[in-house]
Amino acid sequence: MTQDELKQAVARAAIEYVVEGEIIGVGTGSTANYFIDELGKIKDRIKGAVASSEATAERLKSHGIQVFDLNDVTSMPVYIDGADEITASGAMIKGGGAALTREKIVASVADKFVCIADGSKLVDKLGKFPLPVEVIPMAQAAVARQLTKLGGEPRLRMKDGQPLVTDNGCYILDLHGLQIADPVALEEQINNIVGVVTVGLFARRGANVGLLGMAEGVKKFT
Ligand code: 5RP
Repeated sequence: MTQDELKQAVARAAIEYVVEGEIIGVGTGSTANYFIDELGKIKDRIKGAVASSEATAERLKSHGIQVFDLNDVTSMPVYIDGADEITASGAMIKGGGAALTREKIVASVADKFVCIADGSKLVDKLGKFPLPVEVIPMAQAAVARQLTKLGGEPRLRMKDGQPLVTDNGCYILDLHGLQIADPVALEEQINNIVGVVTVGLFARRGANVGLLGMAEGVKKFT
């Protein structure tokens, strides 16, 4: 199976976690996009969705799924999203698609986080994938200096020769070469740097369920 077929398989499997008549939190990225396509097939069975990015909102709407503002939603049974890396205990690196802040916000309102990913994302230890950190633009250099002290090499994410600007009007520093021994402690430490909006470590609140696409089928862990 190709990586895309594995992503499609977990997207299909995630439909089991959709609760009828409820609002679903939806992530960002290629795996989340496959999930949105599956959700479109059962759109009459849900009330709607909360999107974690402008791109996800557009795709949900293109399927005729109503997109709710998070400020109008008090609870959601489930949030479904991909990951750049995930451990067997559910700690993740996210933000390869630059949507980490909204992803963490939407996930925080949901009862359950279901992570869908192809098997290549499963790791013993987080950190091979550069850790995304969303920053306020004026603090970019100051935050980069603090991140360097942690032992990594921060690089400003670029797009078309300019700093990439997130949906929140911020920049992304990708932290390369970091050894992440304690993801929960590092998440708190980076979040406490002045000028950081969000770090793409999802460890304090990780995934409750992981659905991983493997050649032999979808593996589930909780
Ligand atoms: C976006 C994310 C994505 O979930 C992550 O980058 C995985 O993407 P894909 O499903 O395309 O592999 O965190 O900010």
